[in-house]
Amino acid sequence: MIGVLVSGTGTNLQALLDGGLPVVAIASNRGDARALERAGTIPTGVFELRDYGSRAERDAAMAEWLRSRGVELVVLAGYMHVLTPSFLERFPDAVVNVHPSLLPEFPGAHAVEDQLRAGVAESGATVHLVDEGVDTGPILAQQRIPVRPDDTPESLHARIKEIEHALLPRVVGELCAR
Ligand code: GRF
Repeated sequence: MIGVLVSGTGTNLQALLDGGLPVVAIASNRGDARALERAGTIPTGVFELRDYGSRAERDAAMAEWLRSRGVELVVLAGYMHVLTPSFLERFPDAVVNVHPSLLPEFPGAHAVEDQLRAGVAESGATVHLVDEGVDTGPILAQQRIPVRPDDTPESLHARIKEIEHALLPRVVGELCAR
C-alpha cells in the first residue's frame, strides 16, 4: 500500500491515481498544496513545519501517520523538503522520488533551469530510491528527452513531466509487484 508525499500541483500524484495504484494516504508539508485537491476520498494529512518543534519531530509524526494507515511504500511526487533520518528509518529502502533531470546530473530544486543554463542537449526524468542526500540514492529508472533550442523552463518541464507521468507509475507498479 502506497503513501504519496506532495507539495505542489500533484500531476505525478494524478498519474499514480490514474494508473490504479493502491494509494491509501496522501501527506503534504503545505496545507495549500493544490495536489491535495486530487485526493478524492483518500485520507490526507498536513504536516507543516511551524506546527512542530523540529524537522525530525515533524517527519516522525508524518511517518507514523502513514504507517497507521498501512503504508508500506512512500512515493515523493513533487515533495519539496529533504526527509530527515527520523522519517527514512521508519521506511527503510521504501521511499521513492521522481526528479526532472538525468541524475546524478542536476540535483536540487532548480534542476530544469540549471539544465537550460548549462546548455545541455539532453534532459530527462529519474526515479530513484531516497537516502539522506538531496536527490541521491540508487537509481531505479531513467528516460531521456532532447532539449530544444527554443525551450523555456516551462516548456522543458512540461515535456519532462509527460515522461514522468508514464515512468513513475510503471516503476512504482514494479516495486509493488515484488
Ligand atoms: C516534478 O517535475 C518532479 O520531478 C519534481 O517536482 C515536480 C512535481 O510536479 N520532483 P507535480 O506536483 O507532480 O505536478
